[in-house]
Amino acid sequence: MHKIINGIESLTRILKEIGCQRLFLVIDSSYPFLNIKETIESLDVKEKVKFSDFTPNPLYEQVCKGIELLKSSHCDTILAIGGGSAIDVAKCIKLAMLAEEGRAAIIPPLVSQRLPIDGTKIPFIAIPTTAGTGSESTHNAVMYYEGAKQTVTNDGILPGYAILEPSVLKTLPLYQKKCTMMDALCQGIESWWSINSTDESKVYSRKAVELITTNWRKYIFENDDDAATQIMLAANYGGRAINITQTTAPHAFSYKITSLYGLPHGHAVAVCLPVIWEYMLAHPDECIDPRGRNYLMQTFTDISTTMGAHDITTAIRSFRQMMTDLSLANPSSTNREEEIHTLATSVNPIRLRNNPVSLSHPIIHTLYEQIVHKI
Ligand SMILES: NC(=O)c1ccc[n+]([C@@H]2O[C@H](COP(=O)([O-])OP(=O)(O)OC[C@H]3O[C@@H](n4cnc5c(N)ncnc54)[C@H](O)[C@@H]3O)[C@@H](O)[C@H]2O)c1
Repeated sequence: MHKIINGIESLTRILKEIGCQRLFLVIDSSYPFLNIKETIESLDVKEKVKFSDFTPNPLYEQVCKGIELLKSSHCDTILAIGGGSAIDVAKCIKLAMLAEEGRAAIIPPLVSQRLPIDGTKIPFIAIPTTAGTGSESTHNAVMYYEGAKQTVTNDGILPGYAILEPSVLKTLPLYQKKCTMMDALCQGIESWWSINSTDESKVYSRKAVELITTNWRKYIFENDDDAATQIMLAANYGGRAINITQTTAPHAFSYKITSLYGLPHGHAVAVCLPVIWEYMLAHPDECIDPRGRNYLMQTFTDISTTMGAHDITTAIRSFRQMMTDLSLANPSSTNREEEIHTLATSVNPIRLRNNPVSLSHPIIHTLYEQIVHKI
């Protein structure tokens, strides 16, 4: 069962409930600066073992070090505190510990097979310190193996408890705040138009888009505490939405942009989304959602209204204006032709299957021409 709890003060009670004796902490490099560090350090458990030997966009080899440390430390509970990377590392460690196949469970070919595990054997708590990925409420983890991105999916790695403590966002650098928030907004929008959307996922998508639309200026430009609370909630809704639907074309387009231009995940997704949305709006007849083109156009209208726009074109324009106001620019290049070719061939067609409008290879190429600007 997955419980979403507000406030760090609940942690002591949860650890008691679980009967935790030895706590395995998966923390990233922000931990020493977090305002909740003292609370964590003073937790009354027999032992705390810390693992932080990994980078953002974590690698398989780094996860393996964590698996070894958890094995040798005999900890009974995992607590992940950090951004999506830290939470995903903890998920991969947990899966490798519980699957019969061990660490082979988190790499191809087993990674996509949803191996049967009993997730309750290792209680798992996640405290996100960014408001973006919603990883604290998803059954996915992202990890890189031999240079390729792997999405680990298993119901047994969904955290038993997600603790939302928005005050941790105070130390998040401004650029990280912007990128992670845009990740959450894109997850909300993409989940909404995904061909896998359900009544439940659409409630979460709507909440994510609504909360970000209402609060982003105060969160980014005024450091407002209440706005931070709402954005953290929005990111969690975004996570819950994609946990049902998975992401669509903007995410699929973004991965190579991140590796080629070094743009953080949320920034890379957000430069792709308006270009792809505009194409889909102009080509509703290419709709592959079985609910049909009228359903899709109504979905676009619902997203636009929730974004405070009176029509779809205005919503796309206001998304672009938001990127300008946030100073999040598109990548630009002198070697553009060659890079656009590399980008277009990088998009995994399997990842496009959730997108409501089909995108052929020549179209993908044309869309990247709009995403990557000339210098
Ligand atoms: N599992 C999922 O469902 C899911 C969904 C979307 C994205 N992801 C993955 O999550 C990762 C991105 O996560 P992210 O955007 O949260 O960033 P991140 O976890 O990679 O962290 C980015 C940087 O921010 C720092 N940081 C985090 N919180 C901080 C704070 N409160 N104060 C100061 N510094 C802080 C970290 O130390 C790190 O240097 C990517 O690997 C992405 O693919 C996972």
